[in-house]
Amino acid sequence: MFTLKSFLYAAFAAECLFLDAAKALPSTVAPPSSNSIQTLWQFPNNTWAENLAVRSNGDLLVTLLSAPQVYQVNPRQPKTPALVHTFPNATGALGIVEYEQDVFAVVVGNWTIATFLTVNGSYSVWKVDMRGFKSDSNGHVTKPAVVSKITDIPEADFLNGITLINEGSRDALIADSVLGVVWKLNLDTAEYSIVLDSPLMKVVPGQIQLGINGVHTRDGFLYFTNSFQGLFAKVAIDLCGNAIGPYTLIAETGVSDDFAFDKSGNAYIAQDPSDALERVTPAGKVNVLVGNVNNTIVEGATAAQFGILPFDESILYVTTNGGLAGRVPGTDVVGGKILAINLPNLLKSDGIH
Ligand SMILES: *[C@@H]1O[C@H](CO)[C@@H](O)[C@H](O)[C@H]1NC(C)=O
Ligand SMILES: *[C@@H]1O[C@H](CO)[C@@H](O)[C@H](O)[C@H]1NC(C)=O
Ligand SMILES: *[C@@H]1O[C@H](CO)[C@@H](O)[C@H](O)[C@H]1NC(C)=O
Ligand SMILES: *[C@@H]1O[C@H](CO)[C@@H](O)[C@H](O)[C@H]1NC(C)=O
Ligand SMILES: *[C@@H]1O[C@H](CO)[C@@H](O)[C@H](O)[C@H]1NC(C)=O
Repeated sequence: MFTLKSFLYAAFAAECLFLDAAKALPSTVAPPSSNSIQTLWQFPNNTWAENLAVRSNGDLLVTLLSAPQVYQVNPRQPKTPALVHTFPNATGALGIVEYEQDVFAVVVGNWTIATFLTVNGSYSVWKVDMRGFKSDSNGHVTKPAVVSKITDIPEADFLNGITLINEGSRDALIADSVLGVVWKLNLDTAEYSIVLDSPLMKVVPGQIQLGINGVHTRDGFLYFTNSFQGLFAKVAIDLCGNAIGPYTLIAETGVSDDFAFDKSGNAYIAQDPSDALERVTPAGKVNVLVGNVNNTIVEGATAAQFGILPFDESILYVTTNGGLAGRVPGTDVVGGKILAINLPNLLKSDGIH
């Protein structure tokens, strides 16, 4: 099937072109609308949906941290998701990134939800090849994904978000949330090393051991959140992933997990466990779009991605953990969700605070 994305892979992979499917979003304020946020799918109670990627056919691949699994959800027909794969010898899956059309790299390892503690030395990165994958509308897999381990990274402490040096690159950059560094991993040769290291990536002593978390590249910069330093920052990198400029604070964003960019370079940051979604403009202006610590509407938001098809290119898909990292007071933990947030509608309604 021809898609814009596959075209870009084929034609421009070497030119560091970035594809951000969302349109520039209006910033007008109007009365609230009720159809801004829908639950596309809710997993069973105590399921932590951790991250997601969008296939070139528009389907979503969702990783779970509460089980070492990847699910596929069709956003047009979100019936039963298909279980794409269960990784062996691990308790959860984390970051996921597409590095070749319909081929994904997935971070796998042991992070204990009950204690918020990592098992250092337990992390590995896997190749999930979706090219032949088939499932029916009841979620039954009729042709499995082809899955293989790229490598263990035993020296890592807590591998979390993953991105590519640029679109079409064979080098991934992976946040280590406890060491407070970024690893580079060549997805073909499995060679890896630490390439980025900054005080802005470190854990806060005495706090939950969670520093750098989400990582994404855009126009020659690596952008990252730091969960408990509560910040969003960037650094210019070269094609080898090395820093070629200063590490720069963009904004103080509060507790921040993974994020997605729109076409204009606004970042939409999922805020687990502070239960909000916020927008940071390229100039560093921060707006909470929806949610807060007392509201379950985007409770436990862990990551975000825009759809890539015409019908959903301004829909922001957000994974949640249902409150497993700290529930909204007076409410129960619920199953992690995949939310479909219609951003133009949400922005028109001035959010739901
Ligand atoms: C990670 O968890 C799995 C599943 O519980 C376990 O088999 C494995 O030994 C753990 N790895 C480490 C390094 O503790
Ligand atoms: C991993 O844990 C072991 C045992 O607690 C510790 O000795 C070691 O320094 C840790 N390694 C890293 C990279 O944190
Ligand atoms: C499980 O993971 C641990 C740590 O990464 C590794 O030492 C061990 O060999 C793995 N076991 C299997 C059966 O893959
Ligand atoms: C949440 O509720 C608590 C208790 O009522 C209150 O102190 C706090 O200000 C509220 N926070 C927000 C962001 O609404
Ligand atoms: C989900 O499980 C937790 C305990 O793990 C429980 O406290 C909570 O009531 C459950 N929620 C629902 C909606 O069943």
